[in-house]
Amino acid sequence: MKRFYITTPIYYVNDVPHLGHAYTTVAADVLARYHDPQRDKKDKNDREVFFLTGTDEHGQKAEQAAKKTGEPIQEYVDRHAKVFQDLWPKLNITNDDFIRTTEPRHTAKVQLALQTLKDKRLIYAADYEGWYCVPDERFWTEKDLKEGNCPDCGRKVDQIREKNYFFRMSDYQKRLMEHIIQNPDFIQPPSRRNEVLGFLQKPLGDLCISRPKSRLPWGIELPFDHEYVAYVWFDALVNYISVLDYPDGKNFKTYWPASVHLIGKDILTTHAVYWSAMLMALELPLPEKIFAHGWWTVDGKKMSKSLGNVVAPGAAAEAVGADQFRYFLMREVPFGLDGDFSAAALVSRINVDLANNIGNLASRVLSMIEKYRNSKIPAKSKEKAVDWITYIIKYRNGMQLVVPSTPYHALDHMIAFCDDTNRFIVENAPWTLAKNEADKEKLDDVLYTAAESVRIIGVMFAPFMPDAAERLAKKLGLANIGTLDWGELEPGTAVSAGEPLFPRIDENKAKEIEAMLTPKTGEPAAAPAAPATPLAPQITIDDFMKVDLRTARVLHAEPVPKSNKLLKLKVDLGFEQRQVVAGIAQHYKPEDITGKNVVMVANLKPATLMGVESHGMLLAANDEGRLVLCGTWETVQGGIKVK
Ligand code: ME8
Ligand code: MG
Repeated sequence: MKRFYITTPIYYVNDVPHLGHAYTTVAADVLARYHDPQRDKKDKNDREVFFLTGTDEHGQKAEQAAKKTGEPIQEYVDRHAKVFQDLWPKLNITNDDFIRTTEPRHTAKVQLALQTLKDKRLIYAADYEGWYCVPDERFWTEKDLKEGNCPDCGRKVDQIREKNYFFRMSDYQKRLMEHIIQNPDFIQPPSRRNEVLGFLQKPLGDLCISRPKSRLPWGIELPFDHEYVAYVWFDALVNYISVLDYPDGKNFKTYWPASVHLIGKDILTTHAVYWSAMLMALELPLPEKIFAHGWWTVDGKKMSKSLGNVVAPGAAAEAVGADQFRYFLMREVPFGLDGDFSAAALVSRINVDLANNIGNLASRVLSMIEKYRNSKIPAKSKEKAVDWITYIIKYRNGMQLVVPSTPYHALDHMIAFCDDTNRFIVENAPWTLAKNEADKEKLDDVLYTAAESVRIIGVMFAPFMPDAAERLAKKLGLANIGTLDWGELEPGTAVSAGEPLFPRIDENKAKEIEAMLTPKTGEPAAAPAAPATPLAPQITIDDFMKVDLRTARVLHAEPVPKSNKLLKLKVDLGFEQRQVVAGIAQHYKPEDITGKNVVMVANLKPATLMGVESHGMLLAANDEGRLVLCGTWETVQGGIKVK
């Protein structure tokens, strides 16, 4: 077997793992299993396939998220990396290693890469000039600015001049373009390849690879300047080789270059351009393929924690089974395109493809062998299934990412093979053949062909649904499902139909699943044990009573001009109406909260926010930046005391 090295992006720890992260990781697992079918049974040292995932833990995002919780940053990233590590086994993921960018084995290699480039004079210091938004900690160029302010938050920006280090990325523009042109499979799918070629039409600048510690201390220190840390992307991309013990490790020699970097289309430039240039500068071969898949949305909107529409993959796997969830992810949307998630589509996909099609076919064939051949595999048929070889070739192309085929297409061919096998059974009507002693041999042939086709369908879906393939193998009297070669079922082997391979989801269960998966929160099962925000010191009941909490009803809401965070509300307190300013504009639209029953601090000293007076404060849960308003379960009048 040829060695095969596949990677996923290393995910940011400030987010909860959601359907999108699960998608890339499941796809990588499917390809790893295809290239090494018995990988979950093997000793790790026996593997020729190496499958890597991990977490990206440095940089501003992690630092800011930790600040919000008030936790020491290392504790914060430890806790969040564990959420990812705990999730993957629930999805039957067989990664060989899990890299964390805060591990010494990684930081040492990033420093080595930096020093190597510095020694080769491919990193230089220069003054960086630009506009800086202090609260957002972001640089902007003159033309980015909106009316002279930060285009993101509208606040004022400072002009700064700062020394930084730059990587001579521009030196590699021409070579990279040639490489992409000469290797049409390097960037997939073709639409993404064109995107990168388009990007490279414009002059490529050098890459700023440092951040001054005075602004951002959470990173890997530059080996040649202790006042600076590495830019988080330079740090993160090196994970693909640091884990292999670049440059002299045995694993590095065995597995590099990567066979496939699997990523989402959001991070195509960093991989296809930055990483390629970095590798060229380090005089290392480029990965064989970079495959950028599309985006999952929910009701047409991008999934994000702040929108609160995140689908929790652990909950989905628990609701419908890990195999079924994996199958859905890979089968529902052509790999490379965007797709929209709904619980209804998940249920319907499972019922139509798995319960009705594959599951019924298996039951049907096994029951006939039970009935007509005393549960024994009959003599081998002389003929192979009609189009077996054509299906196998198409399936393999998909699993090997032969452009434009993908694992999605491989499953398409598997389903077509199922349909064909069903047709073959109907056409040959074994139930009629069974009535005639003269048709004995013909019946053997038909049953063997059908059973062997079912086995091969099992081999085809095994990388996607490893547990189901194992269950099917057992029914067929096999230790494992075997290979795609025709004729591995041995005559005389005892089989049993038993329970359906895939249970059908009935309407009641479907409703339950829908309620469970209607996106609301992140990964509840994997929520970290420690409180995200440390508890405040204890107070007495008298202390608490100083805060006058009251119910209130929102009568009207409108945005505060020139602010993208604030809403101006008019609320009814029963005995009076009040104006309150709330920093919830990014979480609620005015029409969403009008008429809602909320709880507010009614005796807060008035304050003026962006020139608007506020007489009180609404209560909201702060879920790491996502604000969720607090109200009463049942409707009560405004002004009622809450205690
Ligand atoms: O970008 N649909 O990490 P990240 C499909 N740390 N895939 C999605 C998705 C969605 N809605 N959301 C996320 C980073 N993904 C960097 C990577 S690599 C050296 C550093 C998947 O946590 C998809 O694979 O933002 C995407 O590229 C990745 O998660 C981004 O994860
Ligand atoms: Mg991202």
